[in-house]
Amino acid sequence: MHIDLLPSELVTDIFLALPAISSVIALSSTCHHFRQVYASSKRLRILSQAAENEFGPTQDIIQLVTHNSSQPAHLRRSVPLSEALLHSIVKVGRIARKWEEMYPFKKWKTDFENRRDITDGERFRLRRALYRLWLFSRAFHDGAILRWMRCLPALQHERTLLLHNFSSVELAEMLDVHNMLRDTISSNICPSNGTVSRKFQKRFPHSNYQLLFNTHLNLPPPSSFAQHGEYHCSEVAASKSHNKYTPTARHEPGAEGWGDDILHYYVVEDMLKLDPEQLIHLKENAPYKSQVEAYIKSKGDWFDNNGETFVQTLHQVIHDRGQDMDEFKDAIEDGEMGVALHS
Ligand SMILES: *[C@@H]1O[C@H](CO)[C@@H](O)[C@H](O)[C@H]1NC(C)=O
Ligand SMILES: *[C@@H]1O[C@H](CO)[C@@H](O)[C@H](O)[C@H]1NC(C)=O
Ligand SMILES: *[C@@H]1O[C@H](CO)[C@@H](O)[C@H](O)[C@H]1NC(C)=O
Repeated sequence: MHIDLLPSELVTDIFLALPAISSVIALSSTCHHFRQVYASSKRLRILSQAAENEFGPTQDIIQLVTHNSSQPAHLRRSVPLSEALLHSIVKVGRIARKWEEMYPFKKWKTDFENRRDITDGERFRLRRALYRLWLFSRAFHDGAILRWMRCLPALQHERTLLLHNFSSVELAEMLDVHNMLRDTISSNICPSNGTVSRKFQKRFPHSNYQLLFNTHLNLPPPSSFAQHGEYHCSEVAASKSHNKYTPTARHEPGAEGWGDDILHYYVVEDMLKLDPEQLIHLKENAPYKSQVEAYIKSKGDWFDNNGETFVQTLHQVIHDRGQDMDEFKDAIEDGEMGVALHS
């Protein structure tokens, strides 16, 4: 049977089974008949199903992109499908895909003999957890919420309401993903002085160069890295992670450290207020400490010394359910709960 003779319903079914938006586009351009079915009134439905297959669960993305401060975060929001909504869904989904690629490296960072690709089911759970953490961040890590407000009963209650929407198994997935975000901040975006000297030693094992911590030798950064021109392209972007640890007349790697122990801990807690998109942005585009500092400064005064509230809220919810937080954390560590389970 010639392909042109396939009934439209069957062609629609084929479209609906495709794994990604790019496959929909590709198939729609193979012949006139397919093009016609795609261009019909079914187009939005076909594209949203492809988005579901590629980036789902899209319901959780919708919860995220439709949230605004006029409504509690935990309420279910249903909105009609539209071109604009689809665009927002794809934008969020693409960020999640980047974290999917990162997950195995962070999950099995020290335990690297066990590192493996994650399955489709694990990818789905990772994305779901990421969208939910992102919503938490959007709703509660906001410039309008200052440090002293974190313990206001009404706000605390609202935070627990959002987490109470999820089962403990799903909360464990969120904490697992949260651990990945934490590690990305702690070792990539804001490395401690100890991490800087360790990475420096690894890169230049025979160097007798002494790292100078607590120095102001670093020249002002290729400051606004977002709009920066030549210097950015040639020197920074070209060898992102490389330059940070390479001493030159203009650059002292020792000054890239964010402190140690308590000081570093609080830096990471503050940074965890950023959402997954902001963190990816910094990881990919802000190789120098001065750039990260400039970014944080642009957030305003509320950001500083004002740690994230997800873990504290999770504690509360786990406790409300009569469970033990330490056991909960151990279960994730041992691969009994979380995104990737121990096989
Ligand atoms: C806030 O979200 C609600 C529900 O999604 C929507 O009806 C309302 O128009 C939004 N308000 C603003 C100011 O965007
Ligand atoms: C969260 O739970 C509340 C009831 O506690 C419910 O009204 C709401 O629809 C739930 N939200 C979602 C997104 O499931
Ligand atoms: C770590 O580095 C920072 C900045 O580079 C510096 O201010 C601080 O004194 C250093 N801390 C230690 C313990 O060396």
